Amino acid sequence: MLDLHSTVKQALDDADSFTAVGVIDCGQSSPLLPLQTSPTEHPRIRRALDTALTPRRVATLEPELRERAQDLIAPLAARGGGDVAATVARWLPVHALVQLLDLPTEDTGHLRDLHDRVLGPGAADPVGVAAAGREIESYFRETVEARRNQSGPDLVRALLTPDDRNLALTDAEVASVCYLLLLAGIDPVAAAIGSAAAHLAVEPHHQSVVRSSKDLRRYVEELLRWSAPVVALPRRCVASTEVGGQTVVTGSSVECRVAAANRDPEVFDEPDAFRTGRRERHLAFGSGPHHCAGAHLARLQIGLVIEELTRALPGFRPDPAHATPDPARIAAGDPVLIVAGG
Ligand code: HEM
Repeated sequence: MLDLHSTVKQALDDADSFTAVGVIDCGQSSPLLPLQTSPTEHPRIRRALDTALTPRRVATLEPELRERAQDLIAPLAARGGGDVAATVARWLPVHALVQLLDLPTEDTGHLRDLHDRVLGPGAADPVGVAAAGREIESYFRETVEARRNQSGPDLVRALLTPDDRNLALTDAEVASVCYLLLLAGIDPVAAAIGSAAAHLAVEPHHQSVVRSSKDLRRYVEELLRWSAPVVALPRRCVASTEVGGQTVVTGSSVECRVAAANRDPEVFDEPDAFRTGRRERHLAFGSGPHHCAGAHLARLQIGLVIEELTRALPGFRPDPAHATPDPARIAAGDPVLIVAGG
């Protein structure tokens, strides 16, 4: 019998038996690439995305993204505190996407709204989700068409006309990748930023991690394990198989609970303790072929916010006028109220 961590990892690694195709409906009229593809088709799309979304491309976003983070944090600092979730965590990942895809800055609010209509409270209404899906598809279809014959450093153009022509994706494939980035790249980052702010407020001695980039990197990694911004990953079994000592039959729905796997006591010593520098690999970014394609961008944003929050509001604490949220259980959008340190 495997431990929970190994069981979840085994299911995520085995894309031949467990598929994400047809599992989530976020208003898309065709499968979201590269998540909802067969194991034979996935490597082509994923290689194209990885070749375009390199750590180098992500690093080029840093100066402007840092400015955006500073702009978002400045009003909080001026007021001596406020809600980090509503002012910073909600917006920075949308700015990151706008930058990555070189979209018009004035579309930031519209993209946030489209995202919320398919994944936010409005998502309970299937007709509304389908309508928002059509809008997202036409937005990215037009974006991709307009880029086809232009050169430029953004991700859309890199996917359309890569250095290696074998990696070029069609217009429809690039538009689908953009749709998935809008869905995958916002809420988990917002949740992680919210958790970081809440944790650093409740345990302010951790704020010193910003003094060294190595400590900051280790802090972010432990935060991802401990807070697991994505709780579970849904799959459908397409070939009966044995996982963790149990047979899963074709057609079964499966939930790969990464949050629980990240607290597995068989793998992580004192799993509930926040302890930086752990060696064991967490599953916050998934595992196997669909391992998060935006992990570098996610780490960059979380690290940036920690640096800029501690600079603007040194020694910040939870706002005593409000209930202190549990930093390990913060979802995207949950309020995180802080006040400047005294
Ligand atoms: C803290 C932030 C993030 C977390 C915790 C996270 C987590 C994950 C997880 C668990 C998966 C695997 C999904 C599955 O197997 O079903 C995934 C996939 C993915 N993520 Fe992220 N993600 C984050 C941020 C981002 C960002 C910023 C982007 C891009 C803008 C992004 C783009 C993607 C894409 C495209 C996939 C699908 C990869 C594939 O199917 O090959 N993610 N992410």
